[in-house]
Amino acid sequence: MSFDQYHEPASELSEETRTFARMIVSLTEEAEAINWYEQRISVEKDKQAKAIMQNAQQEEFKHFGMDLEFLLRRKPVWRTTLQAILFKEGDIVELGTKGEEAAEEA
Ligand SMILES: [Fe+2]
Repeated sequence: MSFDQYHEPASELSEETRTFARMIVSLTEEAEAINWYEQRISVEKDKQAKAIMQNAQQEEFKHFGMDLEFLLRRKPVWRTTLQAILFKEGDIVELGTKGEEAAEEA
């Protein structure tokens, strides 16, 4: 079992911070799984195998979303930043700047 998610001694971290760290690792693992399925789907020739992988990737979207929502509930300033960026039309970099400004004002 790896404990690489900790950059500080685990014994000095609160239970809340350790849970946060585990969920960050989980989020990155879900993103990796989405990426791996994306690549497999792109090269798979068998229609049924491809459909199964697409179904599995959809599950990873859900897992990623649940992990992210958990983290955002515990880090409101992160939510504030993302509220300016996600599900918006327009230039992503400009939205990022707005998100940063909103977080600074919060
Ligand atoms: Fe998953």
